Amino acid sequence: PSAAGPGATAVAHPNIALVKYWGKRDETLALPVTGSLSVTLDVLPTTTRVTLIPGATRDVVVLNGEPVGAGRVGGFLDLVRALAGRGERALVESDNQVPTGAGLASSAAGFAALAAAATAAYGLDLGGRELSRLARRGSGSACRSVFGGFVQWHAGSGGGHAGDLSSYAESVPVGALDPALVVAVTDTGAKAVPSRDAMRRTVATSPLYEAWARTCEKDLARMRDALVHGDITAVGAITEGNALCMHAVMLAARPAVRYLSGASLAILDAVAALRADGVPAYATVDAGPNVVVLCSRGDAARVAAVLRAAWPVRSIHVAGPGPGVTVEGGAG
Ligand code: PMV
Repeated sequence: PSAAGPGATAVAHPNIALVKYWGKRDETLALPVTGSLSVTLDVLPTTTRVTLIPGATRDVVVLNGEPVGAGRVGGFLDLVRALAGRGERALVESDNQVPTGAGLASSAAGFAALAAAATAAYGLDLGGRELSRLARRGSGSACRSVFGGFVQWHAGSGGGHAGDLSSYAESVPVGALDPALVVAVTDTGAKAVPSRDAMRRTVATSPLYEAWARTCEKDLARMRDALVHGDITAVGAITEGNALCMHAVMLAARPAVRYLSGASLAILDAVAALRADGVPAYATVDAGPNVVVLCSRGDAARVAAVLRAAWPVRSIHVAGPGPGVTVEGGAG
């Protein structure tokens, strides 16, 4: 390869879904069965630099300083190259503070940052909605990390091009709310079943799947209302109910998909005890054992102390709502 060509760097943050995405209606286009709603965090950013390498014959991906196979990243860059009408291969260097593959939305921050850096490097100037649709193709939940604060991903309607055009994320209005999200990392190992495979199995075999899809539509409407009214108790109750419903649907798959661990259950108990003590604290769990607790910012220190006492957690991060993706230095 000859000297480096144009490049760009982007920073994105993970998001935690309060109403979860669990199941696709189209695998290739990453069209979800239901809408979902999340909050983008202000901790654990991913920084990704994409540099075009004219003359190179393949993409090179370096994650936290280690060369890794181009895999899903190479496939995603093919989408960007098709959009830009260009063919150069690229060097992708990504620094990711989220434990990869542990169900802490590392792929959301990762593909939001990659979508923004790659489009800038290849000379594309996409609006937020188009960037969100593109990030969705890398990892569904990544479409939400394009935006900051509270974000809804619309399922969209139909398949093919119509589905692709109508399935994107956007910011949702929020009243007076000063939330904290206390992230308890119990396990940093990669998950047993990747979320992609677990979703497919759940949709195909769980007898509870239809009930889950109906529940999500109701939870989304109730969540939008609770957010506008700044009602942390309602936001929390819907969040915890929706997460446990998602795990119930997975547990009913054949064979079962189980991400909840002993640590998860001990922390869920501690959160219930906090509520019994009058602290509005509510838990959510993604496709892994780690628990995230939603509470008022003023209660976050107490919640973190209770979680530490409940289980020998590896680390605790107190987050608030964070920014959407940002790009430094477009095509040179
Ligand atoms: O974006 P994916 O394919 O890694 O799926 C994310 C699924 C959950 O994190 C469990 C739920 C969600 O909405 O983020």
